[in-house]
Amino acid sequence: MAHIHFTPEDSAQPPSLFPPYASTVARSPKHPLIRIPQTLTEITGPAGTWDQLMGPAVADLTRQHAAEPIGQRIAISGRVLDENRRPVANTVIEIWQCNAAGRYIHAKDQWDAPIDPNFTGAGRVITDADGAYRFTTIRPGAYPWGNHHNAWRPSHIHLSLLGPAFATRLVTQLYFPDDPLIEIDAIANAVPLEARARMVARFDIATTQPNYALGYLFDIVLRGQAATPFETDHE
Ligand SMILES: [Fe+2]
Repeated sequence: MAHIHFTPEDSAQPPSLFPPYASTVARSPKHPLIRIPQTLTEITGPAGTWDQLMGPAVADLTRQHAAEPIGQRIAISGRVLDENRRPVANTVIEIWQCNAAGRYIHAKDQWDAPIDPNFTGAGRVITDADGAYRFTTIRPGAYPWGNHHNAWRPSHIHLSLLGPAFATRLVTQLYFPDDPLIEIDAIANAVPLEARARMVARFDIATTQPNYALGYLFDIVLRGQAATPFETDHE
């Protein structure tokens, strides 16, 4: 992805090398970064035409198949904000996650948990004039990964924000507030402690839909002192 140039105030951002997160050892840059100036077309297009390129929003991940997926139904809502807490409208947020048993519908995910035929785990929403978004899904399960002995990822949802252009893409992960795996997760721990809570959604009774879905709030702040931690890779 494009290199995002964070300023010193963005100390919340995880370093590219964090040895407890084993794959960063091989893939983090060994040499100083070289800034590659972006051209006007790279940073201004295809703003405003995402829906023509990608199709309309897919805001309900529980209604993509013949029946509903197994799992706890949840609604996630929030706003995308800039460093002055102004809303950022028309931002495409791509969503991907594993199913309630912790398995992705992906050929490389072969661990011993069931595929759910009624869950793909991919969607996208677009922020409105208030920077607001909302989607419905099921709570993802935890899954093991090969980082170290007995390593398990906490429940999480991957989010990719497309700004005005592909070059302005930002990627982060949303965690859940009652998850004991966060504090022993190498990826979450790559984020400095003071910023880690910004990746954790907040349970919200107002977002909760009676007799239907538990609700969580997750605001995404693009820059500044309250910035959401973003990844420099896509895992
Ligand atoms: Fe994941």
